[in-house]
Amino acid sequence: MKKRIAVLPGDGIGTEVAEGAMKVLETVASRFGHQFEFAFGKIGGQAIDSKGTPLPDETINLCKESDAVLLGAVGGPKWDKMPPELRPEKGLLGIRKELGLFANLRPVTAFDSLISSSPLKKEVVQDVDLLIVRELTGGIYFGKPSGRKGENRETAVDTLQYERHEIERIVEKAFTFARMRNKKLTSVDKANVLESSRMWREVVDEAAAKNPDIEVEHMLVDAAAMKLISNPKAFDVIVTENMFGDILSDEASMITGSLGMLPSASMRSDGYGLYEPVHGSAPDIAGKNMANPLAMILSSAMMLKYSFGMKEEAEAVEKAVTEVLDAGYRTMDLGSNSSCTLSTEKMIKQVVYQLEEDDATAG
Ligand code: NAD
Ligand code: IPM
Ligand code: MN
Repeated sequence: MKKRIAVLPGDGIGTEVAEGAMKVLETVASRFGHQFEFAFGKIGGQAIDSKGTPLPDETINLCKESDAVLLGAVGGPKWDKMPPELRPEKGLLGIRKELGLFANLRPVTAFDSLISSSPLKKEVVQDVDLLIVRELTGGIYFGKPSGRKGENRETAVDTLQYERHEIERIVEKAFTFARMRNKKLTSVDKANVLESSRMWREVVDEAAAKNPDIEVEHMLVDAAAMKLISNPKAFDVIVTENMFGDILSDEASMITGSLGMLPSASMRSDGYGLYEPVHGSAPDIAGKNMANPLAMILSSAMMLKYSFGMKEEAEAVEKAVTEVLDAGYRTMDLGSNSSCTLSTEKMIKQVVYQLEEDDATAG
């Protein structure tokens, strides 16, 4: 198969980990007889510096003309004092909105060999396999009005607004995923306080009545944050609004041992998607060849599976990652006492090598 992939490396470690996804995809292409063409675009701080905007039109067009998008990360202290419209994060929010990527899938899988990398107890994290389905193009991230007002700008406003249809489509997606998994759906909200959450609950209840094969529960977000750490195995699929999903997914990354392990897919209904790690540009380690590239590499596996229908290829990438971890290779974030602590580049090489090895063994 021939595919065109837009690559937006972005800022900080985004560029370092995007390199990893491309190398792995090139290896997949040669092993399985595909052609992947990479087309590069600018986003975030990188785009502000060279084009004066975090999301140039040419980047949007490039994505629209491609079969899928890979994104590294955006942001960094250099741009933190910029006006709101000129922040790198605005570029990321803009591309999600522009491409209609309302469904953000964030799988949280505890790798057996990383159990001791988690700060949580072994019995709590072992065998965890859950999926956070985060609404990505609505809620407080996009509601208007938003900004500062008053004579001395002493009032700051953000608006949490949802349209019913925005909730319906993400809830429908979550039911579909629950059906493909263990048929349990936890809807997370703050219905004891927020009107938008009460409408969210209404929509979930209506969908639950139409999908009696799925076990559905509601949970308030504060309790869900607690339960995610005390008993994550109680979850199968979690569906939640934009900001709750953002916060809960970083929290859930600790089950895997590192934020550097969590991949994500940002999708719309037709299968088109943007694939990005859950983590950010990590300014504290950027440029040091220390970042964990596995979240980005696993995001490219999600791209193979969800956008290209290449299940076998995706599984080959996941298998190679598992084997590299089983062999004891680690990046710094996964625990520095390992005897096999690798740089970003070496970890990428190790995964590529493993993919080739597995091919030779299979052949
Ligand atoms: P962050 O996710 O960049 O980093 C949080 C912590 O996790 C840091 O200590 C970092 O070193 C570590 N970390 C993250 N990814 C890692 C990896 N792959 N390997 C090893 N360690 C890793 O969050 P932050 O520091 O709060 O934000 C930094 C910048 O990134 C901000 O400008 C923020 O807006 C942006 N950000 C962007 C995205 C994105 O592009 N999707 C996501 C989150 C944050
Ligand atoms: C994420 C990030 C983004 C978000 C920021 C950088 C806009 O934290 O993808 O999780 O909040 O969605
Ligand atoms: Mn986040």
